[in-house]
Amino acid sequence: METLTKNTSQEIQDTFPINGTDHVEFYVANAKQTALYYQHCFGFDLVAYKGPETGSMETVSYVLVQNKIRFIITSSVRNTHEIADHVHRHGDGVKVLALWVDDAKDAYNKAMAKGAESAFEPYTLNDEDGEVVLAGIKTYGDTVHTLVERKNYNGPFMPGFMAKTSPANGKAVGLQYIDHAVGNVELGKMNEWVKFYQDVLGFKLLITFDDKDISTKYTALMSKVVSNGNGYIKFPINEPAAGLKKSQIDEYLDFYNGAGVQHVAIATNDICTTVAELRNRGIEFLRVPDVYYEDVLDRVGTIQEDLEDLRKLNILIDRDEEGYLLQIFTKPLHDRPTLFFEIIQRRGAKSFGKGNFKALFEAIEREQAIRGTL
Ligand code: FE2
Repeated sequence: METLTKNTSQEIQDTFPINGTDHVEFYVANAKQTALYYQHCFGFDLVAYKGPETGSMETVSYVLVQNKIRFIITSSVRNTHEIADHVHRHGDGVKVLALWVDDAKDAYNKAMAKGAESAFEPYTLNDEDGEVVLAGIKTYGDTVHTLVERKNYNGPFMPGFMAKTSPANGKAVGLQYIDHAVGNVELGKMNEWVKFYQDVLGFKLLITFDDKDISTKYTALMSKVVSNGNGYIKFPINEPAAGLKKSQIDEYLDFYNGAGVQHVAIATNDICTTVAELRNRGIEFLRVPDVYYEDVLDRVGTIQEDLEDLRKLNILIDRDEEGYLLQIFTKPLHDRPTLFFEIIQRRGAKSFGKGNFKALFEAIEREQAIRGTL
């Protein structure tokens, strides 16, 4: 079942205006090394830093940028800090999906009035480059949406950070912007979180996938995609469905100790170049069998890319009413089988690769079998 929500009226109001994704913050065990991993392997530039040297006595953060993507890599240097506890429970993962708004206090108050749970109240940070206003609301698991207002700020990231560069900068791989960020939630919780995004943040339900769309012989999952008013923010929410064996969502929930961000999809304008370079740098991807390429063009029709290039790089293809897309999924990025990235190139298609779900989930199951967690 696939349901596209129709905009029946031009007067539909955006009740919760969001300009886009401000940043994604990862809580990790070792920010220094993780930041270098994202710099060297994924081509991010180091632009700012905070830590004991800048007066942040308990936490260390590296700010990494590539085109419109901003990652913050954060650790605690004290075992009593909540970040240390977070990493102990969840492993390395995404803590914050930060939303860029024009008025953080107003957005926070609106969300709270509609039933959001506060992560932290609005506060203002100042330095010689201006001011940033921050507020936080909770979403699934221990994940937070920080609301970031930066219209009066001209510094490298936000007050408290100093500009910092690295000789490793300048090795981008063509990653452009965050296309979507997917949450895994517990059995029976998907609709609750969809309702949260609809009621509290004014998102619209874009697409529904049920276990008939996303199932293999062994495992199944259900997914709904919500999107904000301007369509720049897309959050698919997955929950496990009954299957013969343990689904990838169950495996995630088990290792992450609860709900959290499963994957961040990053867009490129040239997926073959991006993926070839990522592979050269040691990034590992899920593999679909070569047989996938034997009849894929029967399903997706004519494409601009050379099929042989896509086969060699193991890039997947899917088509919807508006065009096609190319996508590939990394293996887990950290030690636990939790967070991974999707690299996606859209050629008109606005969907999420439904035609690839089966091949993809079978690829994940092969990995699960190797880990002994299927
Ligand atoms: Fe995705």
